[in-house]
Amino acid sequence: MDKELKTNSSVIDEHFKFVFQSFDSSFVNDAMQYALLGGKKLRGYLVNQSSKLFDIDLSKSIWAACSIEALHAYSLVHDDLPAMDDDDLRRGKPTIHKKWDEATAILAGDALQTFSFQLLSDPRFRIRDEYRQKLIYQLSLASGADGMVLGQALDILAETADTALNLDDIIRMQRMKTGALIEWSACSGAVMNGENPSALLEYSKSVGLAFQIIDDILDVEGDPLKVGKRLNKDNSAGKATFVSLLGMDTAKKHSSLLIDKANEALVPYGGKAKNLRQLASFVISRNK
Ligand code: IPE
Ligand code: IPE
Ligand code: MG
Ligand code: MG
Ligand code: MG
Repeated sequence: MDKELKTNSSVIDEHFKFVFQSFDSSFVNDAMQYALLGGKKLRGYLVNQSSKLFDIDLSKSIWAACSIEALHAYSLVHDDLPAMDDDDLRRGKPTIHKKWDEATAILAGDALQTFSFQLLSDPRFRIRDEYRQKLIYQLSLASGADGMVLGQALDILAETADTALNLDDIIRMQRMKTGALIEWSACSGAVMNGENPSALLEYSKSVGLAFQIIDDILDVEGDPLKVGKRLNKDNSAGKATFVSLLGMDTAKKHSSLLIDKANEALVPYGGKAKNLRQLASFVISRNK
C-alpha cells in the first residue's frame, strides 16, 4: 500500500504544481503550497480509486482528488491554530502559524478552501455540468456547518463540557469532523459517472470512523517520527475519543470490526474494488 500511496501522492503533487503555475507568487501562495506538501493523500487516493471503479480517467479524477486534498489541507491548517488544537508540528514540519504567523495561517486556510472549489469548477476539469454541480454541492455540505465545521466545533466544545460525550455523541462528532470528507472522496467516482454511490457510502462511513479511531490511537501510542505530529495531546486537551471513552483495547477491536463492515459493503464491486479493500486494511494497520 505504501507504494500505491506514494505514486498517488506524486501524481497529486504534480497536478498542484501545474495549477499553481498560473498563480501570482506571494507569501500566502507559498504558505498554501507548503500546507499541501506531504501527508498520505489518502482522500485523493480514494477519489482516484473510486473513479477507477467506473473507468473514469485519472486526467479527470485528479481535479477532484486535488480538490479534496486542498480542502483537507485547509482543515489541518486551521485545526492546528492556537484557538483550536494549538499544534506546532504537522507532517514533520512546523505548522503554518509557527513558520509564518497566525494571520497567514488563517488566510492560507481560507485560500485553500476556495482553491478546493476552484479546482472542481475549473473548465479544464471536463465533466458533465450536472455531475460537477453535484460534486460541488456535496462538498459544500460535507465541509460546512452541518459537516466538518460542526464536527470541529463539537470536538472543541467537548474539551470543556461538564458531562462526557457518550458513544453516540462521539460517533456523530467524528463522522462530521473526519468522516464527511472521506465519504465524499469515496463516493466521488460514482457521482462523476451519474451512478448510485450507496455501497461506497456504506464503505466509507466505516472507513471514516475507523480512520479517526486510529488517529486517536496513534496520539497515544504512535511513533512521533512516523506520525509527524506532537503526540499525547488529546488526553491533556480533554478530547472526547473512542480511546478516552472505551479504552485502547476496545477502540482497536471496534476499528477492526468497522473494516470488516467496510469490506462487506464492497461486495457488489467484486474484484474491481481490490484497491479499496487494501486501503481499508491500511487504515487500521497504519503507523502514520
Ligand atoms: C489527519 O488526517 C486529520 C484527521 C482527520 C484525523 P491525515 O492522517 O489524513 O493527515 P495527512 O493528510 O496524512 O497529513
Ligand atoms: C482533525 O482531527 C480533523 C480535522 C482537521 C477536520 P484531529 O485534531 O484529531 O487531527 P490531528 O490529530 O490534529 O491530525
Ligand atoms: Mg482537532
Ligand atoms: Mg488536531
Ligand atoms: Mg488527532
